[in-house]
Amino acid sequence: MQHSSSVRLISAIAAVGGLLFGYDTGVISGALLFIKETWTLTAFEQGWIVSSVLVGAIGGAVLSGNLTDRLGRKKIIVITALAFFVGSLATALARSPLELMIYRGLIGFAIGIASYTVPLYISEIAPDNKRGALVSLNQLAITVGIVLSYLIDGIFAKVEHGWRYMMGVGVVPALLLAAGMLLVPETPRWLISRGHAEKAKEALRRIYGDCDEAAEVSKIRGSMLHEEQSSFRELAAKWMRPALIVGIGLMFIQQATGINTIIYYAPTIFQLAGFESEVSAISATVGIGIINVLMTIVSIRLLDKLGRKPLLYIGLCGMIAGLAVLGGAFYSGSAGGALKVVSVLSLIVYVAAFALSLGPICWLVISEIYPTQIRGLAMSVATVANWSFNLVVALTFLPLVELLGTAYTFWGFAVVGVWALWFCKAKVPETKGKSLEEIENNWRRMSTEP
Ligand code: BGC
Repeated sequence: MQHSSSVRLISAIAAVGGLLFGYDTGVISGALLFIKETWTLTAFEQGWIVSSVLVGAIGGAVLSGNLTDRLGRKKIIVITALAFFVGSLATALARSPLELMIYRGLIGFAIGIASYTVPLYISEIAPDNKRGALVSLNQLAITVGIVLSYLIDGIFAKVEHGWRYMMGVGVVPALLLAAGMLLVPETPRWLISRGHAEKAKEALRRIYGDCDEAAEVSKIRGSMLHEEQSSFRELAAKWMRPALIVGIGLMFIQQATGINTIIYYAPTIFQLAGFESEVSAISATVGIGIINVLMTIVSIRLLDKLGRKPLLYIGLCGMIAGLAVLGGAFYSGSAGGALKVVSVLSLIVYVAAFALSLGPICWLVISEIYPTQIRGLAMSVATVANWSFNLVVALTFLPLVELLGTAYTFWGFAVVGVWALWFCKAKVPETKGKSLEEIENNWRRMSTEP
């Protein structure tokens, strides 16, 4: 089949959903410093302003499988874009902390749906040999969204009630996503599952240019033969259990090694480390965001060459080292300059190592390890797990810092990192270069081995 460049363009348009995921989760880090000035907030309330997004995201992730199956991938992404639009506007105009939490919850709902639907949409239009890179485009967009949110935070840091603008800017990518998605086709796979073979052929033409549409349609039909059986029962089947554990386990280590304490609270951490002005704390944070983008690009280039597992090992070692040093710097309490330098350097190492490994690889591996018949359901279980672990970490981070101190909190994340090394070695299969059938057969074989 000849692949036109339009498949890349279409994937990039859908990935604007990832950009919104990144923007709307990252924006709170800088905005929080100013929201605290508009209203006097306790650590608990601050935790909830950050976390209401995550509660919404869990809800969105729970419903997304069902919604995308019934209404189609494209329509759901368009509706999600509108929810992003309304949510951004409403948070910008919020009149009380409670309103802010509720509207952030709506945005979170949209993020939860996007985090499942965008990779699903891309994986359903991508040719097999490009799926890894195209699906990871979503992670790249997430990191770009995060860095944009930091930049916008920096721009409005000096403006009165700047946080309202920081939140409001989210309307722009939301509109772009809605408009862009109206122009792209529904996925052929979904159209076929609804019995619209002719529309599927037209979609195939728009995605791939010249291709043998009839052959493609029958190939997709063939791969869908087993899909009817998808159910929780199937998911709980003995031979599938290790795969389920790998998905949930990867999401656990992605979140419980603390990435979002940095993404959401970086300026707060930099203030703890002695960056006095809000602007300097936010500037240091922008640097961290840029490293996140650059190292994601490096990772996408290496994924198919080095394999997933070597990158996981290298990344986890870097993360553990960064966390250990960061904890040490806070423990020694070295005043002023030294603490600043060490905290920035160790955060750079930590974020770079995350972007190389857990960032893209966790989302990629869950799109690879499940057999077709349970893929949607298993991916949504893993997505819900991701947001739930994220919520637990975000809610407990500031209270933990108060209770144990910053040093022990970061060391705690490092300990999870050490456990994660074992988990990756013992449980995660290498998927590089393997066909989905080979991966499926491996699980079956493992379940029959003594
Ligand atoms: C994670 C997010 C995180 C982001 C940082 C994603 O893979 O799921 O929780 O904020 O990476 O780049």
